[in-house]
Amino acid sequence: MTDLELIKVALAVKGNSYAPYSQFPVSAALLSESGQVFTGVNIENASYGLTICAERVAIGSAVAAGVVNFAKMAIVVKGGGSPCGACRQVLNEFAPRLPILMADEKGDLVQSATLDQLLPQAFGPQSL
Ligand code: THU
Repeated sequence: MTDLELIKVALAVKGNSYAPYSQFPVSAALLSESGQVFTGVNIENASYGLTICAERVAIGSAVAAGVVNFAKMAIVVKGGGSPCGACRQVLNEFAPRLPILMADEKGDLVQSATLDQLLPQAFGPQSL
């Protein structure tokens, strides 16, 4: 699957974002090494701190399906910003060098980086 195709999958689920408090939809599409795609959107909560980011929903969906090997992730977010620190840490557990494509709300690629660029010297399974 091309980068553009993965971004399009993320863009397609953006409307499912549940973000009534921030009005800031985020969506993600995670491609497994075997070619499966898992999506996520941010899910906010009236108890604000319980909000779950799109990236962690996508990885949770994959792990629940028994998939833990990943090829790349696309994120669609206003301005094409990068994933939060908590999501970087959770992604690091399974894919420390994951390529991450960051696209804006129209689906245009703004920037890309690997997870180890975004989270250098990470604490991970090897640290225990
Ligand atoms: N959000 C994500 O879904 N992913 C990120 O990496 C950063 C932030 C969500 C959480 C919240 O619903 C909204 O964006 C504003 O912070």
